[in-house]
Amino acid sequence: MRAITELADLRSDTVTRPTAGMRAAMAEAELGDDVYGDDPTVNRLQATCAETFGFEAALFFPSGTQSNLAALMAHCARGDEYLVGQEAHTYKYEQGGAAVLGSIQPQPLQNDPDGAIPLDLVAAAIKPPDIHFARTRLLALENTIGGRVLAPEYQRQVTRFAHAKGLATHLDGARIFNAIVKLNVSVQEAASGFDSVSVCLSKGLGAPAGSILVGSKPLIDDARRWRKVLGGGMRQAGILAAAGLYALQNHVARLAEDHDNAEYLAQGLRAAGYVVAAPQTNMVYVEIAAEDAGVLSNHLHRCGILATVAPRTRLVTHLDLNRSKIDAVIAAFREFPRQSKAG
Ligand SMILES: Cc1ncc(COP(=O)(O)O)c(C=O)c1O
Repeated sequence: MRAITELADLRSDTVTRPTAGMRAAMAEAELGDDVYGDDPTVNRLQATCAETFGFEAALFFPSGTQSNLAALMAHCARGDEYLVGQEAHTYKYEQGGAAVLGSIQPQPLQNDPDGAIPLDLVAAAIKPPDIHFARTRLLALENTIGGRVLAPEYQRQVTRFAHAKGLATHLDGARIFNAIVKLNVSVQEAASGFDSVSVCLSKGLGAPAGSILVGSKPLIDDARRWRKVLGGGMRQAGILAAAGLYALQNHVARLAEDHDNAEYLAQGLRAAGYVVAAPQTNMVYVEIAAEDAGVLSNHLHRCGILATVAPRTRLVTHLDLNRSKIDAVIAAFREFPRQSKAG
């Protein structure tokens, strides 16, 4: 059996383990009971994020799912509707929490291949005031979405349009720092046009848990109430907030390495004969013949590689994957005698 640290785990960027520096910061964190608002480290993380993102307030959550849901519940009341992409995490991968727990109707709209939701679809989906319809209140976008970066010009247009139509705007920015590094824009530019942004600290940034929601003070006050009923009121949460602060200070610029590694992996797999989409950030998508998926998965596992193998296999680069591990991944794919090669 290989030690877990020897494995090359490409299932997600959530699999990273805290570095020695991050663990030291966690061990030294000053703590208090955050449900009483007493945890100085949580308060410092929230104040830092509010300022960095250019919002009045911020709130620390255990997970991105809960941060998004509390945001949707703060924006929308029972019977309201939010417009969201078919591919969006809040719609597709969070068990329909907005509807199940928030009594909010989702109106899913088809994403374009670049991840955007076209303005004409947004316009057509906004319901007029009529007793038969849910009240359309919110547009929710995601950046990055499936590793793709939303174009800043699109972001400007669609958020302006939504506001002009009286909608609020929320961004699931679980991986917003990947977009920031890729576009080389400021944090505030990346968040501009949105009334709230949810940011994950536990994805590419490498913290063990935690997400931050930024927004206006009244919105964050509401979200804090929803966080409590959703079971997200944590006590000495500063131990996690310290990891988040460490990540923001030390792990943002290095996301460029993950993007370079994704590009290197894509080129290596292509050279080995696979059909691979051009990665924009830290996600590589490779086509695998359906009949190869099970055997490839076992082959990779024997080589010490963890991947969720499917006809469209997603391989994610992160802080625990260095170049030599990426080389081992390329070699394992190259050795695999399969039907999935191009031509
Ligand atoms: C885009 C996006 N949003 C939200 C989440 C939810 O985050 P969490 O797993 O912390 O609940 C994820 C998780 O993978 C995600 O990829």
